[in-house]
Amino acid sequence: MRVWDLPIRLFHWLLAALIAFSWWAHEDHLDWHRLSGFAIAGLLVFRLWWGLAGSSTARFSSFVKGTGGVLAYLRGAPAGPGHNPLGGWSVAAMLATLIIQIALGLFSVDQDGFESGPLARLVDFDTGRLAAAGHELVFNLLVGLIVLHLLAIGWYGVQRKNLVGPMITGRTTASDGATELEPAPIWKLLVGLILGLTTSGGLFMLERASSL
Ligand code: HEM
Ligand code: HEM
Repeated sequence: MRVWDLPIRLFHWLLAALIAFSWWAHEDHLDWHRLSGFAIAGLLVFRLWWGLAGSSTARFSSFVKGTGGVLAYLRGAPAGPGHNPLGGWSVAAMLATLIIQIALGLFSVDQDGFESGPLARLVDFDTGRLAAAGHELVFNLLVGLIVLHLLAIGWYGVQRKNLVGPMITGRTTASDGATELEPAPIWKLLVGLILGLTTSGGLFMLERASSL
């Protein structure tokens, strides 16, 4: 049965690739670093919209559960298709951390003031340096969450529960009582694409304008 729609899978693998790229580019290729960050910003805006309006397993309401739900899951209650209540919180934490990381990057200035995010001129140099310090700190938090993410997926793998296959193909084997994925209408996908592309494009234009 279907578990992840194509937009979620594309979002996931593009996000992972762009984060790796952003990390690679942060030392000597800050122009690429910023461009990659703008693309990630667009992906995140799309994901936020998809979390409200997307297909059933993408929606935050389907996987962000209170402590009761998490405790029940830990005690062995069955989880439906999609993120389980514990994984749901790790997803929320990764998305929130990334949003903060991007926001700080936009205001960051490097030591000699040569390289900066496109919103840095709205703040003074010291504030820009503070944003850069936060950007570095939050990056470490992000790496911690990603390591945890990979360890958790490995842990399920050891227990013969393959999560990676479904994130590639979108399909998983049906478990008892599981409901089929409820896709979102195409117009909602188009709205999400417009929101994401406008975000990335807007940041790119801001960067061009601020470097003139
Ligand atoms: C719009 C998005 C982003 C912008 C505009 C941006 C901008 C910047 C700038 C201007 C610096 C230089 C700061 C300095 O030298 O002190 C920097 C450093 C850095 N960025 Fe980003 N960034 C963005 C997104 C990201 C993302 C998504 C990651 C995560 C992979 C990331 C990771 C880093 C790291 C690790 C550094 C080096 C920190 C240090 O050692 O000082 N950035 N970024
Ligand atoms: C920079 C690296 C990565 C980041 C930031 C990241 C982030 C995320 C996020 C945000 C989700 C939630 C998807 C959604 O609902 O939007 C997710 C799910 C998932 N990711 Fe990653 N990911 C990374 C790397 C990887 C890698 C390398 C793998 C494969 C080994 C992987 C496998 C998965 C799987 C299997 C899920 C679905 C988990 C489930 O069934 O609940 N991720 N990841």
